[in-house]
Amino acid sequence: MKLLVFLLLPYLSLSEVGKDFNQCRRFFLNNVPPRFIPSLSSTAHICQCVWNESKQKMYVYATLYSTAWRIPIYSAYVFGSPNIGRCDAWYIEPQLDLGTTAEPCMSPKGRKSINNQAVNSDYDGSGYDKGHLYPVQHTNNHLSMLATSTLTNAAPQNSTFNQGAWKTHEGAVIKDLEGCDKAYLAYVVTGVVPDNIKINNRVTVSKYYWRATCCIKSNTFSGKGYYGPDNNNKVQPLSITDLQTQLATDYKVNNITIFPSLPPGHKRPATGGCN
Ligand SMILES: *[C@@H]1O[C@H](CO)[C@@H](O)[C@H](O)[C@H]1NC(C)=O
Repeated sequence: MKLLVFLLLPYLSLSEVGKDFNQCRRFFLNNVPPRFIPSLSSTAHICQCVWNESKQKMYVYATLYSTAWRIPIYSAYVFGSPNIGRCDAWYIEPQLDLGTTAEPCMSPKGRKSINNQAVNSDYDGSGYDKGHLYPVQHTNNHLSMLATSTLTNAAPQNSTFNQGAWKTHEGAVIKDLEGCDKAYLAYVVTGVVPDNIKINNRVTVSKYYWRATCCIKSNTFSGKGYYGPDNNNKVQPLSITDLQTQLATDYKVNNITIFPSLPPGHKRPATGGCN
């Protein structure tokens, strides 16, 4: 039955897991993804999408995923004020394992050859939480809410940290970004620094979580960085510049620009930038 649908609807074989974010650039400031390529063997660019009620494909955020670590490196999204409850169904991304002929967009779990990504059973009894990068609290519509529940948007996170300081931080970010100028969008990139531990001998555990936000306040760019846990199990606020320096060390790369400027010739909505 499913095969028949593929044959009849060739557009279904469009690739959402690929080498770039061309289908989902709007989730990045200026439509430019972070300049940020960890020296990793294998990464996948995922334009996270879901099907809406009219069977249209809706892009909801972007994830750079490490198929080596089997966790995301970052998820990038446009902040929305929360007004929606939580959904606990977890999805996987078919194309990471089945290739581009698999149906794009998220599917319920329960497939056979799962090599390149984490699955629910990896987390069972591990003692770690599935820590979201794009948290459901930062969504403001049903489709985005559902879409945060994919395992490609989660990494094993210390449960004390996940349910404590990181959760408090995510609430504080809501308050902060609600103060941004509503005429512009508020952009968020949330990422994971890997530890050298794995759960189920497969999925790399997170050592640190980080977040960078960028919006317009009083007609100037306002950029903020966050990184944790520190030695006191807290989240440290820091400038985007300092966050980038920290991450360059963590990921062993020369430099990282989380919110790159526009290509020459494009106008910003205000002077300044988030770096
Ligand atoms: C999680 O963090 C707490 C507080 O720092 C620590 O006591 C606990 O051992 C950690 N859990 C794991 C699984 O590392």
